Amino acid sequence: MDIDKKKLDTIIKKNGGERNRILAIYQDIQSEYRYLPKEAVQYVCGRLDIPLVKGFEVATFYKALSLKPKGKHSVCVCLGTACHLKGGPAILETFERELKVKRDDTTEDGMFSVDTVNCLGACALAPLVRVDGKDFGKTSPPTVKKIIKEFKHGA
Ligand code: FES
Repeated sequence: MDIDKKKLDTIIKKNGGERNRILAIYQDIQSEYRYLPKEAVQYVCGRLDIPLVKGFEVATFYKALSLKPKGKHSVCVCLGTACHLKGGPAILETFERELKVKRDDTTEDGMFSVDTVNCLGACALAPLVRVDGKDFGKTSPPTVKKIIKEFKHGA
């Protein structure tokens, strides 16, 4: 993909052009593109004189970073202890089945990405799902279908 080098330079500058700010730089790039393009990693490594292997090591180590394009809507299913006990796995399965996608992946139409997390910090609402930053507590397979509908039709 074509990357906007000016935009990347601005991000690098904002982070002081420091090698040890690589994670923050990647996060800023990901907020711009909704993922971390490989070309951006190559460019940043070149500018900061970081070996490519090291740059990709960082990019693949953190679960929050994705080298694959993310969907328009980001679904995060909590599988922490409380959510797991209250049916989190069934919630995940329903998303996977309804959207025809596996966890940590994006639907073919690019509409949804489905990821899991180990606790969203609101265990009283278990099982919890977060979509585009909005929390849905005490979910169930039928509510998953409603959530999908809501976001498909432009929530
Ligand atoms: S375990 Fe799901 S919010 Fe804490």
